[in-house]
Amino acid sequence: MTDDNLVAVGYDAVYDAIPHSPTFRSLWAEHASGDGYPPEYDSISFVTATEMRAIARDLALPAGGTLVDLACGAGGPGLWLASLTGASLAGVDISGVAVARARARAAAVAATSATFVQGSFAATGLATGAADGVVSSDALQYAPDKAAAFAEAARVLRPGGRLAFTAFEVEPDRVAGLPVLGDDPCADFRPLLEANGFSTTQYDETPGWHARVAAAYGAVLAAADVLTDELGAPAYLAMASEMTLTQQLGIYRRRVLAVAERV
Ligand SMILES: C[S@@+](CC[C@H](N)C(=O)[O-])C[C@H]1O[C@@H](n2cnc3c(N)ncnc32)[C@H](O)[C@@H]1O
Repeated sequence: MTDDNLVAVGYDAVYDAIPHSPTFRSLWAEHASGDGYPPEYDSISFVTATEMRAIARDLALPAGGTLVDLACGAGGPGLWLASLTGASLAGVDISGVAVARARARAAAVAATSATFVQGSFAATGLATGAADGVVSSDALQYAPDKAAAFAEAARVLRPGGRLAFTAFEVEPDRVAGLPVLGDDPCADFRPLLEANGFSTTQYDETPGWHARVAAAYGAVLAAADVLTDELGAPAYLAMASEMTLTQQLGIYRRRVLAVAERV
């Protein structure tokens, strides 16, 4: 199985399981998303309400513009941004189950213009130059070819359009040999942005990320019994082993929020 397929199958299991786990959703809301994050737009990332409002502002979308969410997952962050900005949304994720969940969420929140397709960072299938903004929350660290991912983001963006993302920089020597995170480790996204059609205008470590990751992972690992019951053993074990490995090896260098303009 290729790493892309491995990732899709793994995330399919996670997105299948999460709707059955009120405990996971409440632990994540408390420790990862934090105060003020609306539950109808929940995520499996570490984006906060403060970050989302900053991203909505920094994307500077024109009225009625088009926003692309790369690795959109079950659609929460992208749909919230669409509702904050009035943009039309196109979400892309490698997991077919995530795409199905995102479509269902769009219907549940009565999104007026939102589409979701299965695709990868490097091959979204979206039209060239059609997007006014691109966003991605806590997923680019998984891109197996980060130059290709940024080149694809640049292709779908119109000149002057902005890319805003949160992502984890990793420690390359600590992920060497690991699947997915070790495929194309990146300790600083800026050179890749600059080499692939972007001018970086903002690049900051996000405050409190380390404590939130430790608290969220710690809470999930401490609730093994109830989460195994609610999520099912395969999904819980996959999730718990990634969390344990990430913490034990100290894989994450920093979590950053970046804004870059398509030149
Ligand atoms: C941590 S989740 C974040 C999902 C979503 N952005 C959120 O905030 O809830 C990472 C997402 O990246 C997606 N993903 C991983 N590798 C990918 C790839 N090569 N191309 C597209 N999506 C990918 C996964 O399916 C998953 O939905």
